[in-house]
Amino acid sequence: MILVNFKNYESGWGEGAIKIAGICKRVSRDSKVEIYPVVSALDTYRIMKEVGVEVILQAVGEEWEGPSTGQISAIAAQRMGVKGSLINHSELKMRPGMVKKLLKIWPKDFWSIVCIHSVGQAEGWAKNIKADWVAYEPSSLIGSKDKSVASEKPEAIRKIVNHYQPKPVLVGAGVHSLEDVKTSISLGARGILVSSDIIKAVDPEKELRELVQGFVI
Ligand code: G3P
Repeated sequence: MILVNFKNYESGWGEGAIKIAGICKRVSRDSKVEIYPVVSALDTYRIMKEVGVEVILQAVGEEWEGPSTGQISAIAAQRMGVKGSLINHSELKMRPGMVKKLLKIWPKDFWSIVCIHSVGQAEGWAKNIKADWVAYEPSSLIGSKDKSVASEKPEAIRKIVNHYQPKPVLVGAGVHSLEDVKTSISLGARGILVSSDIIKAVDPEKELRELVQGFVI
């Protein structure tokens, strides 16, 4: 599985979001690899309606129903057909207690993808985390063009995969090549979480088509 995080890059907003979501859909159809856009709440409805793909939110808030203002509701998202959400991304960290609290009341059939940033977290507060997926992303490698989680942290990937078995683990940060994907999969990851290599690319479709080759056995 590939999650393409559109972040707040301008090329991933509005029309850009529609274009890249369309690429995700085509490449997924042709390669048979599951690919989901991870998008801003602002673009969610439009992407689902115009492109017809399932999407994942970049984050949900801490209050979901009632007198709160400006929070993104996981319940409302689930009811409008969103597939799930990241939680605790490095760029929007949440207190561990809050992550656990939200997972307890998480809507049924709404994927929870909890980001962790180190082996220490996997062995510490996130040890028995009740998430559908865990995404390992070392913060220092996010956005790197030449180093990736696969090239720099293979041992950590292996440890985290073993630690969470049989829960599926995704890995991300600096992923930019077919080799990165192959290495991650060979270490037991079930997929990748990627952003800049696709969203900032001159030809995002070419990049994504390269990455899906890493899933071919
Ligand atoms: O969520 C994906 C992300 O943080 C990795 O970003 O740009 O290193 O692929 P990037």
